[in-house]
Amino acid sequence: MNPCSPGLWKRAARKLLRCLRLSASAAPIPIRAIDAGSIEAERIATLQPEERRRAAEAVAAGIEFLLPTRELDAILPGADRAEVCMLPRHIRSHGWAMPEHELLTLGAIIRLTNPRFVVEFGTFQGGSTLVMAANMDAGGRIVTIDLDPSQHASHEHGLGTGFETFDLGSLFRGTRFEPMIEQRWSNTLDVADGDLLGKADLVFVDADHTYPFAKRDTAKALTLVRPGGWIVWHDYTWLPENRECAGVTRAVNEFFQRHGECFHIARTRFAIHHVASTVAVTRADGVAEDACGRT
Ligand SMILES: C[S@@+](CC[C@H](N)C(=O)[O-])C[C@H]1O[C@@H](n2cnc3c(N)ncnc32)[C@H](O)[C@@H]1O
Repeated sequence: MNPCSPGLWKRAARKLLRCLRLSASAAPIPIRAIDAGSIEAERIATLQPEERRRAAEAVAAGIEFLLPTRELDAILPGADRAEVCMLPRHIRSHGWAMPEHELLTLGAIIRLTNPRFVVEFGTFQGGSTLVMAANMDAGGRIVTIDLDPSQHASHEHGLGTGFETFDLGSLFRGTRFEPMIEQRWSNTLDVADGDLLGKADLVFVDADHTYPFAKRDTAKALTLVRPGGWIVWHDYTWLPENRECAGVTRAVNEFFQRHGECFHIARTRFAIHHVASTVAVTRADGVAEDACGRT
């Protein structure tokens, strides 16, 4: 059995919480203190220490990971052989930037889904923007949205007011991919998106990770993506020090319960959704609705 399967994850998480409560300290977790020798105890033992910690934290925070976990290659066959372009400047230099294995995964998603037009929420230094642009075909275009730097100090976000400022998009600047990228400075919630509605082949959501923002960004992503397109979220899973990302977990869980067809990508923090490409139907109340429940 896949040690990352959602059923196992949830069972493991509940048991780990019990273990943690039994134990004065989290390490080592006394797996054998309960149900010693049971099949579940053996399976829990197969989880990596980081997965154990994350599972226990998630359950403690009342959050469950509802999405089925899949290898990227099972979602997008051929992804494990994709030839992905990354640049030396992608080597991680800040905690908000993605580690290299996730950049590689995002590049593979782009290679396999082959979008011509991408919208990104959360530019930061532009590492994710750059890896997406570098793996799109010539003629591809990205609109990446982040807060106006002049508002960083006063911005009211999910955890309080203001954050350090940084050079938005510095990683793609000066590369041959820069002309493919348009930067917009705006709160994702207020962005002028009239020209983006229903146009994106892929929307990448990685801005404010607290629940109210993640929920609204998710709803907005659904208005921007075209039928048959893709939505990708970062930080569906997270480390204990980034508990605010539980907001993403909750928002994506709710999206999954309504729309289905969402997966957590194994060994990454990504979640991915393939939007149905079907025609609208009319509900009993007369309101037109597409296969995703959008009216
Ligand atoms: C985790 S970083 C994005 C990392 C980037 N995708 C990467 O992989 O390098 C989150 C970004 O979202 C931006 N952000 C946070 N809240 C936002 C909002 N309400 N609207 C627009 N951008 C926001 C922050 O300024 C920050 O640059």
